[in-house]
Amino acid sequence: MMLSLPTVALYTSVQLLSLVQQSQGQAYFDVTDNGDSYILNSLNDHHVEMQISSILQNEAQKYKDYPPIVSFPTKSQRTLEPGHIPPYVLDYSPLVYLYSEERYLPYDIGEFVTNFHVRYKNGTVVPGTQEGMDIGKLAALGDGGNSTKKMYLTSNSNFDADPDWITGVKNKPSLINGEIRDAPATLIVVDKGNGWVDAYWFYFYSFNLGPFVMGQGPYGNHVGDWEHSLVRFYKGEPVIVWMSAHGGGGAFYYHNLEKWHMDERHPIIFSAMGTHANYPSVGQHPHDLPYDILSDFTDRGPLWNPERNYLGYTFDGKNVWPATNNSNKNYIGREWAYGNWLRFKGHWGDRQLPEDDPRQKYTLIGGHKYIDGPTGPLRKNLMRIVPCERAKWWNFWRGCNVRQNIKWGVGVESEGYNCGNLFVKVQPGWVRSALNKITWGGGFCYIVDLLYG
Ligand SMILES: *[C@@H]1O[C@H](CO)[C@@H](O)[C@H](O)[C@H]1NC(C)=O
Ligand SMILES: *[C@@H]1O[C@H](CO)[C@@H](O)[C@H](O)[C@H]1NC(C)=O
Ligand SMILES: *[C@@H]1O[C@H](CO)[C@@H](O)[C@H](O)[C@H]1NC(C)=O
Repeated sequence: MMLSLPTVALYTSVQLLSLVQQSQGQAYFDVTDNGDSYILNSLNDHHVEMQISSILQNEAQKYKDYPPIVSFPTKSQRTLEPGHIPPYVLDYSPLVYLYSEERYLPYDIGEFVTNFHVRYKNGTVVPGTQEGMDIGKLAALGDGGNSTKKMYLTSNSNFDADPDWITGVKNKPSLINGEIRDAPATLIVVDKGNGWVDAYWFYFYSFNLGPFVMGQGPYGNHVGDWEHSLVRFYKGEPVIVWMSAHGGGGAFYYHNLEKWHMDERHPIIFSAMGTHANYPSVGQHPHDLPYDILSDFTDRGPLWNPERNYLGYTFDGKNVWPATNNSNKNYIGREWAYGNWLRFKGHWGDRQLPEDDPRQKYTLIGGHKYIDGPTGPLRKNLMRIVPCERAKWWNFWRGCNVRQNIKWGVGVESEGYNCGNLFVKVQPGWVRSALNKITWGGGFCYIVDLLYG
């Protein structure tokens, strides 16, 4: 990659320049600390393999001859060129329906960080971040991995007053092409060996408005919200799409997902109101607790096409390679201006507000009103071999079921129903509805559906 002079002039710090490495004429960012990689250290599945058929029970036969997926493939197992985003990754990129009345829209990470300084967990301000924070400075913030040195981007002003940098009010997708001009998504492509390639699309919102619990809430709000989806390819063909929701998420066969009517290759994802959790369908989505106690809502609001505006990288577990190209020619090389921000290990938002802060609240069922901001993209297990990021606490078998049926939302806006897989043909309607009630408010269906859906 050749660096043009104007691009180089955008570098903001000397430290940043020292983090740019060269290999065979190609420049990249080292995201490790003196060779000590927090990503490698936090993973147990270093160089492991898995047959795809072992997680595709429903279609195991069809996939039985596919070569294994490899975490940290060897050089000869790789098909990706560093910094090269394959065209199929863009051809099959997901589009995201935001909620029609979404109050917290996507935001530009570069603009976001200018509203912060950085603090350690103990409250001490990290030197050099008091003023003039920018995305370039993030790269120089070293060891946030050690728990005593954990860092938090901490708001300079009251985020609770809903300033524009929190709501992203100007960042509505264009009605013409779905682009959000001032809020790039982040695309990170990872080689999983033998022709397997994972394309991670990260969606950043400045604020997560947590869900309501039995009419009370919201609970679990936090500053900074990283959501993501994964499209897993085999030799350029999309096979699985996984999408994040509340630290868990759902995996689906690509071919079962709804597609964009303008170009049927692109799968559709629905981002829930406030929480931005991702679902494959419209309606009410109960999560974590039965009887719809905790629910997300999705609908067909503005349609966001992140492929129009993204920061692109490839990642090999150690180094981040800025894309040499971009599907939007206006943005080629922009990654160099953003610098090595992916190296930042800290939290992308304020620490959980203390109990004596008037904005904080606590209830037994909902937990805290304000919790810690999340960590960034490289902390999301990108070297994974199963498509799921991690298992939720109740998933004791640590399974990752790739769903045969797309999961329908419930409620008035629903375009289908889950336990429908079991009861949809039951007539009359009141019997069906009674069955749904009896089966633990749908909780039973929810679990059955998780296992066998
Ligand atoms: C974290 O940092 C503290 C203070 O610098 C040090 O005493 C401790 O050993 C470190 N812990 C780890 C796990 O590196
Ligand atoms: C807070 O933690 C940082 C990083 O470990 C340390 O440098 C600083 O001295 C600590 N401040 C106090 C008041 O303990
Ligand atoms: C990469 O750049 C070339 C030349 O500008 C362009 O023709 C091509 O379509 C680009 N490819 C992608 C995937 O954006």
